Amino acid sequence: MKIGELLGIGNTARVYRWGKTEVIKLFYDQNYAVMEAKNAELINSLMLRAPKYGGLVDYEGKKGLIYERIDGPTMLWNIEPSEESMFYNARLMANLQYEIHQVKNKLLPNLKPEITHKINHSQEISNHDKQIITYILASLPDGNSICHYDFHPDNIIMSPNGPIIIDWLNLLVGNPEADVTRTSMMIQSDSLPPNAPGWLMHRESRELFNKEYVSEYIRLTGMNDEFLEEWMIPTLAVRIDEMQGEYRQEIIDKLQTRLKKQDGVDERN
Ligand SMILES: Nc1ncnc2c1ncn2[C@@H]1O[C@H](COP(=O)(O)OP(=O)(O)OP(=O)(O)O)[C@@H](O)[C@H]1O
Ligand SMILES: [Mg+2]
Repeated sequence: MKIGELLGIGNTARVYRWGKTEVIKLFYDQNYAVMEAKNAELINSLMLRAPKYGGLVDYEGKKGLIYERIDGPTMLWNIEPSEESMFYNARLMANLQYEIHQVKNKLLPNLKPEITHKINHSQEISNHDKQIITYILASLPDGNSICHYDFHPDNIIMSPNGPIIIDWLNLLVGNPEADVTRTSMMIQSDSLPPNAPGWLMHRESRELFNKEYVSEYIRLTGMNDEFLEEWMIPTLAVRIDEMQGEYRQEIIDKLQTRLKKQDGVDERN
């Protein structure tokens, strides 16, 4: 089959048209292709709102994943610069994620051990801080919900048949609190996709979007919002190595501010 028009450039891959109804996702790192292929097979069997997976192929010496082509803008590009549109989409996002969290699984890599491993292997975190962070993480609840763990408005395609969630590379099984904290952290970050829409440039807009998203998730579950701060330290810690330059520094600074507060709490106890 001949490769077609370039549809999207992500951090891990490029996505091209493939035949009449499909796309091919060509990864920069071949290990990620194998990882996502495994996840895509599982997601297909779970009947989630995801593109149908068509298998792993070799294309000019690279591994490519074939998916059903989903037409439409991602939610990020669908949001209009009005409070009404931002709030509507923030609530929709919370509902879609809540729906994913209702699906349980025991097979996938488990979130807590997986992120503990990543934190322990980070070059950017001192051994002293690693001890504190992994101690906090150990005290947080386990779970058996499907967690996308890269759930943000640019990974949701608003198709004519409804929203479809793409990019399941980070799939984990764990407590939904961890997944919501991760999404909330990403929304609040200053790191934006290239040529991001105008409204996203304003930190206040991102904060508003985040507040509405979190409130809706809490409304759906009846949880209180304390879990966000509890999970934020390990969530930031695991994010550091995924970021570069000033955005890595932003995450390190946010983590250090929280660790300092934590020190204060320990001293008082
Ligand atoms: N099934 C699909 N149908 C149509 N377009 C798609 C499909 N999958 C991906 N795309 C397009 O390609 C872009 C990149 O895809 P994807 O998010 O899977 O890549 P990525 O490299 O993992 O991204 P990220 O930067 O979030 O890590 C998407 O934003 C979307 O525009
Ligand atoms: Mg993506």
